[in-house]
This record gives sequence, structure tokens and C-alpha cells, in this order.
Amino acid sequence: MEVVHLKSMVNTTLLELLPAKETPPTYLHQAMHYALMGPGKRLRPLLTLLAANVATDSHLLRMACVSELVHTASLILDDLPCMDNATMRRDRPCTHIRFSESTAILASTNLLNLAYGIIANCPNVDASTKVAVSAHLSHVIGSMGLVGGQVADLQNQPVGAKSEVEQLYHQKTGCLFEFSVVTGARLVGLDAEAIEALTRFARAFGLVFQLYDDMLDHSIFAQETGKDVQQDVAKTTLLSLYTPEELRGAFSDAQAMAREQLRRAGHEESLLAALVEQQFATFNGAAQRLGS
Ligand code: IPE
Ligand code: IPE
Ligand code: MG
Ligand code: MG
Repeated sequence: MEVVHLKSMVNTTLLELLPAKETPPTYLHQAMHYALMGPGKRLRPLLTLLAANVATDSHLLRMACVSELVHTASLILDDLPCMDNATMRRDRPCTHIRFSESTAILASTNLLNLAYGIIANCPNVDASTKVAVSAHLSHVIGSMGLVGGQVADLQNQPVGAKSEVEQLYHQKTGCLFEFSVVTGARLVGLDAEAIEALTRFARAFGLVFQLYDDMLDHSIFAQETGKDVQQDVAKTTLLSLYTPEELRGAFSDAQAMAREQLRRAGHEESLLAALVEQQFATFNGAAQRLGS
């Protein structure tokens, strides 16, 4: 099985999970399709399937899509005029621009609602696993996760310690990666040690990923990201706190940590390890271009 094949299975499942565009309220459902079915990388569902050792049973695919619904819901809100005031997302006008602000907010809310519904209604998953996954998701979306990270990001309070920014990055990005891999591990019954290693992997991977996302905010990447750049110029990011030297160090330390934890989880030669290496190659290429 190749990653591109898994990605196409994820896209098919996402379409199956959405209410049909023709079903009323059609404008809302069209907005949900528009936001969700844009050209996203589908990294989070892929992490679930790969952490579950490339299992592709229908219930695993459904549960893997939960993180993509939540992620897309967060992007819709993040782009609103009252937040990042963005114009482009996934190579297209943002949902609030193509539809309306009120429709974008309701589409985002309904994607979050759908995410919990998918967990509750998923066949072939026992009730105790559903409760554990729901509780984890609630934590990841809430004040200690995405919502809390977004509040801190928007307030942009002066931060001295890099560890504070790293914690913010974990809330904004890492914790949903963590949810993705831990959900995959739970669904195939991996042991506590593997789950702990995957959790640490996700934290390190999230940091590398967010550092890369910060780099993409630089104008030299304007043609490639499919979204607005130069949004972080007035913000404290690790890019603004670190010297170039320190940045390279943090970037490679986090990559080394991610690799080590993957090995601990038994992923030395796996498709998950290959996907991570492929991502790191892209990230390192961008870091070099930024440095040159
Ligand atoms: C972008 O996430 C927002 C961040 C959390 C940094 P992705 O880079 O995964 O975006 P898509 O899903 O591919 O559009
Ligand atoms: C994305 O954060 C939103 C969340 C992770 C909740 P950013 O604002 O940093 O990401 P982009 O650059 O718009 O994708
Ligand atoms: Mg933002
Ligand atoms: Mg943004």
C-alpha cells in the first residue's frame, strides 16, 4: 500500500461522511464540502492509519477522518476577519469569502459536531474505546488544546521563554497530531509503551511542523503555500525568538527526537517512518532556502 492510495481512501471516506450537497440546508452543506474537500494534505488521517500499521478497515478510515474534520473546522475559524483575516486557503478563497461569515462559522460548528457523531456512531469500535477517543478529542479541541492555543496566538502576549512558544505550538498543532496517532494505536490495541512513544513522537513532529509552517509565512514561499503569507510579521514565533543558528539546532533536535520515539514505537522501516522522512526532507529544503 502506498501513501497516495491511503490518501485517496481518506478522501473517499470524507465524502461519504459529509451530508450531500443537495440535502437542505444546501448552502451550509456546500460550504462544508468546499472547506473539507479542498486540496489538503490529509496528514492527520494518514497518521492515524499509519500508526494503526496501515489498517484500512472501514471503521478505521472513519475514525481517521475525525481529525481532518476538526482540523478543517479550525482552519475555517482561523481565517475569519476577526482572527487571521486571511483570503486564501488550500489554493482557493477562504470559506467565509466564497460563502459568508455566518455560513463559515456554522459550517465549522457543524464539522465539529459531525466529528463527535462519527465517533459515537462508528460500527465495530467498542464503547470504552469510543469514550476514550471522545474524551481525548474534547481535551484536544478545548482550552488546553486548539482553542487555548488560538486564544494565546491571537492575544500575542509578549513571551520571554521559548518553552512558552513551544507549548503554544503544541496546543495549536501538536496535540491534534497526538490525537491522530493515539487514536490509530488505540483502535488496533497497541500497548501503553507504544502509545507513550507515539505521543512523544507527535509532540516533536508537531514542533517541527509548526516551525516549518512559520517559515512558509515568509514571502519567498508566497507562490507555493496556497494560503496567505506574512501573517505572523507582528507575532512572536520561534522564528523571531531564535537566531538562525538556534533555529537550525531546534529544528534538527526535534527531528531527532521524533525519529527516536518512532523507533521506540517499533517504526523503523514502516510506512509511517517513510512519510515522516519525506516530510522532513521537504521541511529541511525550505529551511535551506530560507537560510540561503
Ligand atoms: C496548516 O495545516 C495549519 C497548521 C496547523 C500549521 P496543514 O499544513 O496540515 O494544512 P492542510 O490540511 O494541508 O491544508
Ligand atoms: C492554524 O494556525 C490554525 C490552527 C492550528 C488552529 P496558523 O494561523 O498559524 O496557520 P495558517 O498559516 O493560517 O495555516
Ligand atoms: Mg492563526
Ligand atoms: Mg492563520
